[in-house]
Amino acid sequence: HRLAVLISGTGSNLQAILDAIDAGELPARVSLVLSNKAGAAGLARAERAGVPAQAIDHRGFPDRASFDQAMIERIDAHGADTVVLAGFMRILSPGFVRHYQGRLINIHPSLLPKYPGLNTHARALEAGDREHGCSLHFVTDELDGGPLIAQARFPVAANDTAETLSEKVQAREHRLYPQVLRWRAQQRLQMTDQGVELDGERL
Ligand code: GRF
Repeated sequence: HRLAVLISGTGSNLQAILDAIDAGELPARVSLVLSNKAGAAGLARAERAGVPAQAIDHRGFPDRASFDQAMIERIDAHGADTVVLAGFMRILSPGFVRHYQGRLINIHPSLLPKYPGLNTHARALEAGDREHGCSLHFVTDELDGGPLIAQARFPVAANDTAETLSEKVQAREHRLYPQVLRWRAQQRLQMTDQGVELDGERL
């Protein structure tokens, strides 16, 4: 099972995926890591793991659609059964989403449908939420809105800050992403017209 991983920054989720593969817990390989930021720390993580890593600067393209088309060409040149968004901070065009329909997965640092978009930890604190967490979902045209695959949740403590919530969320993310990708690699997880199915059962 070939994974193309799209990043913009630190790449700690990418690292969790690479580590799971290394540990024999995820029967897949990363065929390409693509970053829209040349200096992204995640690119060095990919190189250390011996995985092809490329940066592609969106500022060199006249519009979103042509940037996305260039990404499609690079991803498809390396082959990808699943395209993994792991801290990729650009909105994808409908053409890109359609091209990878059913094999494009995103991680989001909130309990969706709560808090699509940015600053999720601060928003959860401000709302006085008693629980917080992260979500994995198939990507559709709606921002952070596609069908849910899995969530990890934990109680918000009285002394939590946006910073501590971020750390707690990331710890969950690093466990959940490899697990969901393992389901994909084992061909147990798919998006259908009805929603998300695991082992043929609707989630
Ligand atoms: C993750 O928390 C993800 O949910 C959010 O961006 C962060 C990426 O972190 N969209 P990293 O680059 O994987 O370390």
